Amino acid sequence: MKMSGKTVKVYCMDCLEFLRQEALSDVHLTFLDPPFNQGKNYRYFDDEQHPEIYWGWLKEVIGLIYKATADGGAIYFMQREKNVGWMMKVLEETGWTFQNLIIWKKFTSAVPCDFRFGKQYQVIIFATKGEKPRVFNKLRIDYPLRPNYKYKRPTGIYVTDVWDDIKELTSGYFAGDEALRDEKGSRIHTQQSPVALLLRIILSSTRPGDLVFDPFAGTGTTLVVAKQLKRRAIGVEIDPDYVKLIKWRLNAMREADNVLKYRNYYRFTPNLDKIWPNSHSSYATP
Ligand SMILES: C[S@@+](CC[C@H](N)C(=O)[O-])C[C@H]1O[C@@H](n2cnc3c(N)ncnc32)[C@H](O)[C@@H]1O
Repeated sequence: MKMSGKTVKVYCMDCLEFLRQEALSDVHLTFLDPPFNQGKNYRYFDDEQHPEIYWGWLKEVIGLIYKATADGGAIYFMQREKNVGWMMKVLEETGWTFQNLIIWKKFTSAVPCDFRFGKQYQVIIFATKGEKPRVFNKLRIDYPLRPNYKYKRPTGIYVTDVWDDIKELTSGYFAGDEALRDEKGSRIHTQQSPVALLLRIILSSTRPGDLVFDPFAGTGTTLVVAKQLKRRAIGVEIDPDYVKLIKWRLNAMREADNVLKYRNYYRFTPNLDKIWPNSHSSYATP
């Protein structure tokens, strides 16, 4: 697919139709954050389907992404923890190789349950086309001192498969400036992913210049982060209002979207300057 000089592109259409055209190729990383089939109110998606129908549809999407992916390319597939069985099955059946089941522990909220433990995490499966990823950057973070530890590690710690240092964008005062809001202060898209999440994923699995794909772009978080990290990116979103929002957000360059504020946190990563070009001319320095 030609990017006609633009390094970040967004298409307003059904991602399955987009993928069926088979015009996309050499994708290095896909972030897959589809509607979870949990009865949410999407304008262009029935989020309450029979599981066989929903997973049959997603399997076709995931199979076509596999075809469009370069050897060793990665997919990060986010879903609810109760769907892990389906996720594994569909990824395996479409050819992907499992690498990690990442637990994204939400530190600001939990969903209470009456007869089982409250839910405090979301799952993300990292899988690759082929046995080994073409790129895997071992990130080191300046993780805060844990309560019973006397000293902080002087060179930080490696990121593991439990991510408990990334705040989700909830309603209420935890949401901060990053959540996109309308004039009344309500969040425009309740599933907006945090930039810190995409920063970690894109930094781990790509190099500058690589191609990042997001078939369910929503508010465009993946594109906003890819642009800052000098990756090429293609997003597809079915709702025209969200597409307008993505275009606005890509141009607005809001301080709340600026990933530079996290650079110090990753400073112990050995090849950081190579994977995170340190020139964000279009974003103000924090
Ligand atoms: C869970 S949200 C993604 C949120 C996104 N990660 C963000 O940071 O904003 C899923 C998105 O997929 C869109 N969508 C639903 N069906 C679609 C389809 N068939 N093709 C493309 N987009 C679709 C929805 O409108 C919604 O914005």
